[in-house]
Amino acid sequence: MATQEEITKIIENTDMVELVSPYVKLSKQGKNYKGLCPFHNEDTPSFVVSQEKHLAHCFGCGKGGNPIQFLMDIKLISFNEALTELAKKNGVTISNPYQKKQEKDYSLFYEMMQTATKFYQQNLSMTKSGKKALTYLHQRGLNDEMIQEFQIGLAPSSLDSLYKVLKDANYLELDMMDLGLVGTSDKGYYDLFSKRIMFPICDEQGHVVGFSARIFDNPDKTQPKYINTRDTFLYHKGNILYHLHQAKTEILRKKRFILHEGQMDVIASTGAGLKESVCSMGTAFTLEQAYLLKKYATQAIICYDGDKAGIAASKKAIAIFKKAGIQVHLVLLPDGMDPDEYVAMYGKEAYVSYFEEHKLDELEYNFATAFLQKDLSDSVVVETLKKEVFEQIQKMPSQTAKEKYLGRLAEKINASKSSLSLDYEAFYKTVPIQDRNEPYYDDFYLEEDIPHLKPIYEDKLKRNFELRLFLYARNSKTKAVEIDNKIFDYMDAFLPINREIWITLINHYYMKYEQFDDQLFCSFLTEEQKKVYLENLESVRGAVEEYNDSDLACIIQKMKELHIKVQNETLTNQIKQTTDEKLKMKKLKEKYNNKKQTMIRRRK
Ligand code: CTP
Ligand code: MN
Repeated sequence: MATQEEITKIIENTDMVELVSPYVKLSKQGKNYKGLCPFHNEDTPSFVVSQEKHLAHCFGCGKGGNPIQFLMDIKLISFNEALTELAKKNGVTISNPYQKKQEKDYSLFYEMMQTATKFYQQNLSMTKSGKKALTYLHQRGLNDEMIQEFQIGLAPSSLDSLYKVLKDANYLELDMMDLGLVGTSDKGYYDLFSKRIMFPICDEQGHVVGFSARIFDNPDKTQPKYINTRDTFLYHKGNILYHLHQAKTEILRKKRFILHEGQMDVIASTGAGLKESVCSMGTAFTLEQAYLLKKYATQAIICYDGDKAGIAASKKAIAIFKKAGIQVHLVLLPDGMDPDEYVAMYGKEAYVSYFEEHKLDELEYNFATAFLQKDLSDSVVVETLKKEVFEQIQKMPSQTAKEKYLGRLAEKINASKSSLSLDYEAFYKTVPIQDRNEPYYDDFYLEEDIPHLKPIYEDKLKRNFELRLFLYARNSKTKAVEIDNKIFDYMDAFLPINREIWITLINHYYMKYEQFDDQLFCSFLTEEQKKVYLENLESVRGAVEEYNDSDLACIIQKMKELHIKVQNETLTNQIKQTTDEKLKMKKLKEKYNNKKQTMIRRRK
């Protein structure tokens, strides 16, 4: 970290007008400069920049601050990234005694990927084979501007041209292979991608980290349509979102994002004006990706292919979004089309208006998809359909919703509401008591009340939250006691042994000592506790765990959830074991109330 003097120097050396100008058209007004705020939509300028004070401020939305803050917000980067960038610009060197040791400098690898991207781009725009590929792209509705914007290129048909280019640039073979660009055989090194249209995949900061490569001129039907970079140390398909880097400003502005299935859909959507579109790369959408998106917006619109696979994948994505506390809507395109096909068939404007006018909530979506490709004149089909919709209805969160959908179903299948209600009653009786009314409460509304959820991912949190709390608590006694007060009610979320250690820390160690010392603390622990404690510490050695209020809020929220889960597991066991129906109902009610309680807590 930089010293305070260094930070001040960086701020004072920065010309605020020069910094803001690329993002805002400024005009001079007295001492200050004024322009349209880049952080919200407005017609009259309320974004004011003071060169003298090194400040920017929006009188409309309140955003702004010193150069570091501005850069963080506009580029969506961290404090350290902004600081480093400004330091470089102003020739200030920052001392970095606490910098994480394990943080690697990847700039060489980013350069290599960029070199490859450029090579593919040139190959597309300047060669004879490139002409064919360009024609293909144009036919698919991409103009040159979009080809440029998405940095699309072409891998040539030769065996090793990229290899040679990289070799000439003095890159190492091992690095080329590690990045998934080049392979090796007894005949030598060869390009892993050839004769395919290349879509670079960028990380959140905009570095090219991988490629998706589409076949376009190969009659060989045994070849896969797309080949993507395998997982490398730069590219992890589970936490990369195609186009996120370019979409994030629009996502912030519109407070929503669109999730598609493939990159051609993202390109079609973006070309039609829905620039907040992203997709995961040929794999199932992950919780980690959901948290990545949550940094920018908490409203998702899923628009996958309207076919069977697309619908199944949508339902999985819904569950993930709900788990991450993101509200979901869905757009179901007609006739099983994907966005790219819809745009090609009906045009951009028709697509956007269809999209905006057909946003369904989860209940509507499930209901609508149940009817797809079902022949309602066949009474056997109607019975299966009824069961499917009854299952949905059974899980609905409110009586009014249930009634509404029973009504809609009756209408659709041309039955009377009263007879359908009777059938529903009969169906309901077949649902095991413990399953009734359940799943919708399971993962309803999470973490909405956490303002700036930092990307602590779920898997990291699962057990690591205990570790984090220990690390925080070692910082100071006051902090430790403050945390203890907050987590007191949810201690059963801890592993039993960690709970013992925590209690020793608060109730014994800090009762005696003001300062923390590992060795001294260990003398309070039993051999087994000591072993676990030291193992815990060992596992996070080197990690800088700075205390952070939003992390803590997130942890506490998780603990609440785990606590309820633990309680409910106990109840479920009791319910399973008892034959006393009355007791069973009582426990069920208790369980239900627990869930309702978390729902209300989360909604506050
Ligand atoms: N995909 C992949 N590998 C494949 C097929 C698909 O990685 N063999 C990924 C790609 O990212 C693709 C997405 O899954 O964009 C969706 O696949 P699909 O619906 O088959 O392709 P489209 O997006 O419709 O592609 P196109 O319009 O180019 O045919
Ligand atoms: Mn398509």
